[in-house]
Amino acid sequence: MLSGTAPASAMTAHSTEAGAGSAVMIEARSKVGMRAFTAAPQRPVLYEALRAGVALPYECATGTCGTCKARRVSGVILNDWPDAPGAGYLNPAREEVLLCQTRALADCAFEVPGRADFGRSPAIRPRFGQAVVLELRNLTHDVAALRVQMEPALEFEAGQFALLRTPHVKGYRAYSMANHAGKAEEVDFIIKRKLGGGFTEWLFSAAVRGDRLEWFGALGKATFSPREQRTIACIAGGSGIASILSILEAGATARHFEQFEATVFFGVRTRQDVFYLDRLNRLAESSPHTLQITIVFSHDEVDPTLGDRYPKLLFDTGFPHEIAARDLAGRFAGRVAYIAGPPILVDVSIRMLITQARLPARDIRYDKFS
Ligand SMILES: Cc1cc2nc3c(=O)[nH]c(=O)nc-3n(C[C@H](O)[C@H](O)[C@H](O)COP(=O)(O)OP(=O)(O)OC[C@H]3O[C@@H](n4cnc5c(N)ncnc54)[C@H](O)[C@@H]3O)c2cc1C
Ligand code: FES
Repeated sequence: MLSGTAPASAMTAHSTEAGAGSAVMIEARSKVGMRAFTAAPQRPVLYEALRAGVALPYECATGTCGTCKARRVSGVILNDWPDAPGAGYLNPAREEVLLCQTRALADCAFEVPGRADFGRSPAIRPRFGQAVVLELRNLTHDVAALRVQMEPALEFEAGQFALLRTPHVKGYRAYSMANHAGKAEEVDFIIKRKLGGGFTEWLFSAAVRGDRLEWFGALGKATFSPREQRTIACIAGGSGIASILSILEAGATARHFEQFEATVFFGVRTRQDVFYLDRLNRLAESSPHTLQITIVFSHDEVDPTLGDRYPKLLFDTGFPHEIAARDLAGRFAGRVAYIAGPPILVDVSIRMLITQARLPARDIRYDKFS
């Protein structure tokens, strides 16, 4: 969908591939700041801003959450996904758009609501790159480990995610890195199949070694750094364990858990849905007094043999946020909480952490897999 008065030449920019087209100037304003940057017309304005070090607000970067809402003040734009779920947060009469789904075909100005501070750029600026599928391995009936070769190497902090795109499916999808943070030529993702989903149906039914992907990253603010010197609590559901694994690997390497406690609650539905217990058991073994990992089954009993096979892990039944609330009652103060997984789990966990655990919002970091 085009907004503004598009010259005929602008219409053709819709079908050009990434890398082509000459850059346009974008001006972003909020109540407290103004920044200008250049953007390629075939790339979303949000990504071009972040790449340029302009910290526009975002969360999912894929059209769902509405956080990247802005008002078009001037210029010709193209809406890549008019039906995006995040469009429900927009007032079309005010020319509001989602910047993660908007491309600028000519010089544009946008007004971002509130007091967005565009200067707060992350330590590592995201960039675009290419990737090749190296390995795709089933972890359960509907969860797979995807390993890709990145070109150039992806630099990321523990807890971050990248956007992946295949030429076979429209739009980027967000996936958290599951391996050790740093500069990685090979990156691991843990991906759950969504019935009828564009990217995951392609991945599970058609993708093969050697397939090419495009990526943009790293993104996300639910990051862990041992430099913060904090005790942590993690709540993950299903493939949400990806970013938590990266956090645990980073903490273990930095010997963070020799001094600071980490308590992890990994929720799955049934015993058929559980994976990477050997890896989690190894991590728990490396910090036996300070790293506690509980596997929580919401729709199944605990298999009595699990305790013998994975002696460093704990097992329980229920929902992970409930077990966290019970086990850490009176011990939340001072922790940073990390939550990753399905939106419902993230929402109830945030509510628990604010109302019961009394954690301040600034110490709750999450990735909602919407
Ligand atoms: C921050 C974050 C981290 C995530 N990390 C993981 C992870 O580590 N593991 C995991 O399994 N899942 C993760 N997800 C969920 C993942 O991004 C996908 O939503 C999920 O895999 C389903 O994708 P799909 O293409 O199969 O389903 P679809 O229903 O086709 O698409 C799901 C999402 O993709 C985006 N999308 C769909 N169509 C378009 C379009 N035309 N243009 C642009 N965008 C579109 C939207 O955000 C939509 O909600 C994460 C999500 C977020 C926001
Ligand atoms: S960041 Fe654009 S909708 Fe979430």
